Amino acid sequence: MLKHEEKEREVLPGVRNIIAVSSGKGGVGKTTIAVNLAIALARKGFSVGLLDADVYGPSVPRMIDAGNYHPEVISEKGTDLIIPLSKYGVKFLSTGFFVNPADAVVWRGPMASGFLKQLITQGDWGELDYLLLTCHPEQAIFI
Ligand SMILES: Nc1ncnc2c1ncn2[C@@H]1O[C@H](COP(=O)(O)OP(=O)(O)OP(=O)(O)O)[C@@H](O)[C@H]1O
Ligand SMILES: [Mg+2]
Repeated sequence: MLKHEEKEREVLPGVRNIIAVSSGKGGVGKTTIAVNLAIALARKGFSVGLLDADVYGPSVPRMIDAGNYHPEVISEKGTDLIIPLSKYGVKFLSTGFFVNPADAVVWRGPMASGFLKQLITQGDWGELDYLLLTCHPEQAIFI
């Protein structure tokens, strides 16, 4: 059986550091902090990705003025890869890229966690110094 550390490296082999931005309360500035931290790290010369994993109210698309971005999916060696939006030197993926803001979406637990797992493992993140994650306080992410 693989040790926990070895398993982690298998999931995101090219990602050196993961930073989760979360809180026990809504509306306190998680998304603001995550987006600004990502762009600040990119400006320092690091390669950075940001995954907005908030399934209840993803606000990253609006914050980076990318409400109309719909990620392309490419097939590489039999695996589907989801192409993040590159903007301000950061690779962005958000649940909001897949949902029309005007539509009501009813997420069941397994559906949301399966979808998030897909964004993490099938996102074409490449080599990253930092992957930032932001999610809703009532959400937990398990890989
Ligand atoms: N440090 C701050 N000072 C004042 N206002 C702020 C600060 N950080 C964020 N805000 C404002 O507070 C509001 C909520 O911020 P943000 O969307 O980043 O919070 P959040 O924790 O991600 O919210 P949610 O739980 O809804 O995802 C926004 O209007 C934002 O402009
Ligand atoms: Mg938020």
